[in-house]
Amino acid sequence: MHWLDDYVKRLLIVLVVGGVVSVVAIALLQPSSWGEYGNYRGDALKDEAAKPLVYGDNASCVECHGEINELARGDVHKNISCEMCHTPVSEHVRDGKKIKDALVVGVKEQNSLCLKCHSKMMGRGEKFPMVDAKLHLEELEVRPTSSCNRCHTVHAPMENINYVKKLRELREKRRALKEERLLEESELRKLELEKAKDSDES
Ligand code: HEC
Ligand code: HEC
Ligand code: HEC
Ligand code: HEC
Repeated sequence: MHWLDDYVKRLLIVLVVGGVVSVVAIALLQPSSWGEYGNYRGDALKDEAAKPLVYGDNASCVECHGEINELARGDVHKNISCEMCHTPVSEHVRDGKKIKDALVVGVKEQNSLCLKCHSKMMGRGEKFPMVDAKLHLEELEVRPTSSCNRCHTVHAPMENINYVKKLRELREKRRALKEERLLEESELRKLELEKAKDSDES
């Protein structure tokens, strides 16, 4: 048996032809910008950069909606983008005119928006604030169709709640102080009575 038997020759021919075809194919088909920055088509970056902007970023809202932005920065949603809730609104204003409706309308839509992030789900981890909407509203003794917005203002969800909590704390403090004062007064009166009795007796 000779080492260059026919079947070995055939195999070598296939390998050589395959190699040549591959080299030619790569030369013909590989985009010219391949490898410009790394192991990918360099023009891909230019293509991406040329796409029209979809998201405007919060900074682009401030100019016209500064008050809302300020309200939002001071509360629990300070790290959430406006467009997370309002959909991309780069097409929202052109030449100073509003051209796209960015509003989330209706209680159902608004609640399901809130619950997209806040409904109870194991995967979210225990630290993330979650509610079971039905239970939450039941516990608060409001109708199951109540709007989240009714208590949590959309742009500053804890503002009212913190206000009410503070108010409640102040009321409790005042009540405690009042009780303390009443107690003091009654002790004082007792002392005075005893003093009067003592001087009567002597
Ligand atoms: C050049 C000014 C301008 C910019 C920038 C701008 N808006 Fe507006 N926006 C307006 C005007 C004007 C209205 C209409 C106000 C009205 O009807 O009282 C409006 C209304 C809205 C409304 C109310 C819903 C509606 O469609 O009627 C939302 C929500 C809104 N803008 C979100 C945004 C967000 C989010 C951004 C940033 C990505 C943004 N806007 C950037 C001018 C602007
Ligand atoms: C958590 C979701 C959420 C985020 C984040 C959010 N919004 Fe809103 N926004 C809403 C909802 C829901 C309404 C509709 C409220 C209503 O109809 O009472 C609304 C209403 C509005 C309106 C029209 C009513 C108004 O109050 O003038 C404007 C303008 C607006 N948002 C701008 C913004 C801007 C600017 C940001 C970012 C700084 C932002 N929103 C962030 C949910 C959100
Ligand atoms: C895109 C996701 C997202 C949406 C939509 C959203 N939230 Fe939030 N919410 C968050 C994040 C993130 C936090 C901050 C969590 C933290 O501090 O760990 C937060 C915090 C809160 C908190 C404070 C909880 C606490 O105990 O600190 C309340 C209340 C709240 N959101 C209510 C709402 C309401 C009402 C809506 C609908 C108008 C809404 N959220 C929509 C993501 C979202
Ligand atoms: C009747 C008023 C009211 C309504 C309506 C309401 N909430 Fe609340 N929510 C509260 C109060 C009060 C707290 C604070 C409870 C506490 O800290 O003891 C709270 C707490 C929360 C928290 C924080 C929970 C945590 O563990 O930190 C989230 C998230 C929340 N609400 C989301 C919602 C969503 C979403 C809706 C709509 C489906 C909604 N809430 C409707 C009053 C309300």
